[in-house]
Amino acid sequence: MHELKPYIELIKNGDVVAFPTETVYGLGADAWNPTAISKVFKIKGRPADNPLIVHVSDKEQVSQFASEISSRAELLMDQFWPGPLTLVFPKKPNVLDAITAGLDSVAVRMPDHKVALEFIRQTGPLVAPSANTSGMPSPTKADHVRTDFGINFPVVEGGATSIGLESTVLDLRPPTPTILRPGKIGPIELQEVLHEDIAISDHVESTDQPHSPGQKYTHYKPKAEVRYGAVDHIEENTLYLLQTKVYGDPSRVIHYQGDLELLSRELYDRFRQADRMGLAQIWIEDIAPYRQKSPSLALALSNRIEKSLSE
Ligand code: TXA
Ligand code: MG
Repeated sequence: MHELKPYIELIKNGDVVAFPTETVYGLGADAWNPTAISKVFKIKGRPADNPLIVHVSDKEQVSQFASEISSRAELLMDQFWPGPLTLVFPKKPNVLDAITAGLDSVAVRMPDHKVALEFIRQTGPLVAPSANTSGMPSPTKADHVRTDFGINFPVVEGGATSIGLESTVLDLRPPTPTILRPGKIGPIELQEVLHEDIAISDHVESTDQPHSPGQKYTHYKPKAEVRYGAVDHIEENTLYLLQTKVYGDPSRVIHYQGDLELLSRELYDRFRQADRMGLAQIWIEDIAPYRQKSPSLALALSNRIEKSLSE
């Protein structure tokens, strides 16, 4: 395993270190150190009213942050942790305001990644937003982190992340559990465990009354204009993420054939690639016909694509 010791030292000294998870790379800081947390906001250029997710290495650590752990939460943690599911709990009074942006709730998850878990085991709970500068797509490779924060930025190397889209954020406080940000674990998977309806926040798209502060921020729009729909011919100066077989220059015509897992894994890297290549457009061919096989990923992908579209 990657030598973690120097990175653990950095965290213990109140510094910020990027590390891999199964979703995207996170920008980690000690969840009990307000100075370290303020560095996270500064480095990312993140608005102070957008709260952070606490990352834990075991379930017992949740009670340091949550004032109440419902039986629903217990069921979900048993079934999906470690994994890409963030749960929003009522917070304990001593949880730092910098984490929760002054809300009365705190979001917690346990990442399903060997390196991340070992790291957190040795540092204690870490806050970790995606390790990109605000306005860039979430990083799915260590190189993306270095592109955003500089070649010497401390990153625990972990290869490309396996899911590629951020975790599902689920609020368990309302009468109906509500998805605030869709991810790989979706309504169907949650229903199977909870045996009750799951709501999807109408504010999953940007609005002025968000339930999750992150919903109101403009997400990454590449310099290239993102287009979504059917594709029947190939134009110049465009990166294509295709499902069907229209052939063209393989450096910019990529075939997914309805493999939504692969598209999720690669989407943010492709956004960055189009901008590196200086292309004017990215065309993503309609994923709706392939929704059946992975409905939850289809929902998460649609949500991220929607946010990146040029109006
Ligand atoms: O997959 C992930 O969740 C990644 C990796 C690194 O774990 N992290 C991540 O963090 O995506 P970030 O900060 O980029 O997104 C956190 C989202 C934001 O939309 C934020 O508004 C929401 O979670 N959030 C955090 N705390 C919340 C709370 N108490 N109530 C509602 N939403 C919350
Ligand atoms: Mg983010």
